[in-house]
Amino acid sequence: MFTLTGLSCSRSVTSFAPIVTSFTKQPRASRSFSLYAEAIANGETESSTVTPQKKKVRTRRILSGVQPTGNLHLGNYLGAIKQWVEFQNTGKFSSAQDLDGKSYEEKDKDDGDVEVVNENFFCVVDMHAITVPQDPDELEESTLTSAALYIAAGIDPTKSKIFVQSHVSCHAELAWLLNCVTPMNWLERMIQFKDKSKKAGTESVGVGLFTYPVLMAADILLYQADRVPVGEDQRQHLELARDIVRRFNDQYCKGNPYKKRCKKAGLPTYPVFTEPEAMIVKAGGARVMSLTDGKSKMSKSDPAEASRINVLDPPDVIRDKIKRCKTDSLPGVEWDNPERPESTNLLNIYAAVQPGRSREDILEEVKDMAWGEFKPLLAEALIAHLEPIQKRYAEVRADGEYLRMVLREGAEAAEEIAERTLRATKVAMGFSVPK
Ligand code: TRP
Repeated sequence: MFTLTGLSCSRSVTSFAPIVTSFTKQPRASRSFSLYAEAIANGETESSTVTPQKKKVRTRRILSGVQPTGNLHLGNYLGAIKQWVEFQNTGKFSSAQDLDGKSYEEKDKDDGDVEVVNENFFCVVDMHAITVPQDPDELEESTLTSAALYIAAGIDPTKSKIFVQSHVSCHAELAWLLNCVTPMNWLERMIQFKDKSKKAGTESVGVGLFTYPVLMAADILLYQADRVPVGEDQRQHLELARDIVRRFNDQYCKGNPYKKRCKKAGLPTYPVFTEPEAMIVKAGGARVMSLTDGKSKMSKSDPAEASRINVLDPPDVIRDKIKRCKTDSLPGVEWDNPERPESTNLLNIYAAVQPGRSREDILEEVKDMAWGEFKPLLAEALIAHLEPIQKRYAEVRADGEYLRMVLREGAEAAEEIAERTLRATKVAMGFSVPK
């Protein structure tokens, strides 16, 4: 057994606790859990017996990913990873909504007295990264850095699976199958593609950038994910994934020939894919914006390094960036004044790194401050929050063997599920599938 001091994960990564499932035939629309996911995940077939349970236990699968970057910034961290950690530890997302704007606090009430067991998968999507040019000398390094940062930020490999997308080749394979069932004009509508390709010019943009959302749909659908926490900018991609599910299930998973193919392959006859729900997550209640322009998102593609704080920035760099960041000449610090986007953004960051404090409490402290007074306070709060993460990051990164083990076990767990879904997809489409 392998131990690593200083980390909460001091034993070999265990697999999820055994999950009790009951596999009943209810009409699809009335289910709030993906029974098919459970069946596939547990290798059950339609004929599995149902064990009577006092309390129903349901598995709910959560999947999310971010692109590898050697320089994860505050937007990635507050908008994604910190929220994943909260979810992993509490089973709740304090500020997430579905695509229709319904809060998950409300939605979770529908669970009634069913006990929900979450299975979390967090993925470093390195194959999405290559949709724009990557330096081969840096890709591996940034992939490992990202995975180590997940762990350093609190993703616990004994509670959640961490894996690298390219380690599970089913992603590429399912993406191809889905490419062939996704209409061209669905992708032509994608705002992110339009933006990115306009910037680079279509002669230099790879086809992969165009089909990027299909690969993302494959990431999600392979795991029968019920819920996908993402930022607001991924809304359209999630809608696309849902559209693909409906189209696929409708085109391939109906009627007696489908049932026959399933039976022959020993698979349940449910539609292959689960419609994922988006959990649109707002970082501490809002998006993290650039330090040099409170109206645009903090982004790694911004050429101005001073526009973002990286999670691994040393204290002096953080102090300096905050000192120089854009503000205005109005007195005091306030929230949600549309004329003062920088004030809102800096307050949001200040609040997000002090999770125990209420907005009122924070406002009370800082509302009358001049920028010169507030900025050092913000810088120190940020440093205090990031310091332990940076420390753990250094430990994890120094121990290549541990990191490789986490990723190997993550990929193995992921692959087991992914392979089953891929096989079911192929059966549905009529491929000759080995037993
Ligand atoms: N496109 C997402 C982003 O840029 C990253 C991503 C890829 C993702 N595959 C995913 C997120 C699957 C959630 C689920 O943020």
